[in-house]
Amino acid sequence: MDRFYFPLWVNRFVPLLIAMKLGGLLYLGSMFYVGAAGETMNVGFRPEQSIPFSHRTHAGELQLDCRYCHTTVEKGARAAIPPTQVCANCHDAGETFLSQPETVSVHFGSERLKPLYESQIDGKPVFWKKVHDLPDYVFFDHSAHVTRGVSCVSCHGRVDQMDVVERVETLTMGWCLECHRNPDAHIRPQEFITDLGWTPEGDAAELGKKLRTENNIQPSTSCSTCHR
Ligand code: HEC
Ligand code: HEC
Ligand code: HEC
Ligand code: HEC
Ligand code: HEC
Repeated sequence: MDRFYFPLWVNRFVPLLIAMKLGGLLYLGSMFYVGAAGETMNVGFRPEQSIPFSHRTHAGELQLDCRYCHTTVEKGARAAIPPTQVCANCHDAGETFLSQPETVSVHFGSERLKPLYESQIDGKPVFWKKVHDLPDYVFFDHSAHVTRGVSCVSCHGRVDQMDVVERVETLTMGWCLECHRNPDAHIRPQEFITDLGWTPEGDAAELGKKLRTENNIQPSTSCSTCHR
């Protein structure tokens, strides 16, 4: 039998094959990169944001309550990220950049606030990268925790001391269950829920236990609580 030769027109596809191979390598590489990135590896993930917003400044030094910005945290499953208007209460761009609101607009004209001014002018929301993100098949509800005496600090750490928010817990099922089985040390009086530095005078677990009995707080460990 004659030797088989590829017809000449096949040559045209050689670059395509090379491109596909390179594409494949790139794909594998990026999968590895994403797999090893902070978002997947959980603890310590602290993405830089387009505006260097600091919780240390706003929640720590200025002592703004978490709920001033995260308004839905006691009412719903999600803790809303504040819209531009909330920031504009103190960082108003004015009608245009040319107006002179220095006296009422903190750090007016600061380079770092530019994306915020742009958002006020074009009406498009500021894009904030997510720091915490559970898989979609998990049901989580902020209000169920915050209204039962579990403080932000139990799950997010000392956010009021962070310039860049960082994930301090793994958010794995084991972590959720550990507290659901033994929550005593994490239950505090309602008025200190956003006071991250608060510590009880006596033993935290003892006080928590008392509050649990008074308010009948019984976190469930059945699968359907978190997988609906
Ligand atoms: C002046 C408004 C403001 C206040 C007050 C504030 N935050 Fe935030 N918070 C933001 C903004 C804006 C973001 C999104 C940017 C970022 O991640 O830093 C954010 C992000 C977060 C995140 C990460 C959300 C994610 O993507 O997973 C947590 C957790 C958080 N805040 C907790 C708190 C806690 C706890 C307090 C009170 C001690 C608080 N915040 C007070 C504005 C605020
Ligand atoms: C209640 C008033 C208030 C609100 C609301 C507020 N800020 Fe601020 N912000 C301040 C003050 C005051 C400072 C200056 C603190 C300092 O210099 O020590 C500041 C500083 C900043 C800075 C640093 C600016 C620079 O040039 O150093 C950024 C960035 C910033 N804020 C972003 C935001 C964003 C984003 C929001 C909304 C999520 C927001 N702020 C909401 C009062 C506020
Ligand atoms: C029992 C643990 C727990 C407590 C208590 C808690 N959080 Fe969260 N928070 C989480 C988890 C888990 C997520 C990720 C939710 C998701 O991806 O669906 C999250 C996400 C957030 C986000 C991003 C928006 C969202 O809802 O996904 C903000 C902002 C936030 N928390 C603020 C707060 C503040 C402020 C408090 C206190 C008033 C608080 N959290 C209390 C566990 C907690
Ligand atoms: C620090 C302690 C703590 C951690 C961590 C925690 N929980 Fe909870 N959880 C509680 C407490 C306390 C309650 C309130 C129980 C009650 O109302 O009797 C609760 C209630 C809930 C509820 C509401 C159940 C209902 O009956 O509506 C859900 C859903 C839930 N937790 C999911 C989660 C998930 C998912 C995680 C992990 C991402 C988590 N929790 C982590 C302490 C915790
Ligand atoms: C208190 C909340 C909570 C309860 C109760 C709970 N889970 Fe989960 N589960 C989670 C969270 C959060 C994750 C996501 C874990 C992660 O990303 O590592 C998860 C993940 C899973 C996964 C995926 C695991 C993986 O490695 O991808 C399975 C399967 C699962 N849960 C089954 C169950 C079963 C079965 C039960 C009942 C015995 C149960 N869960 C009870 C919170 C819960």
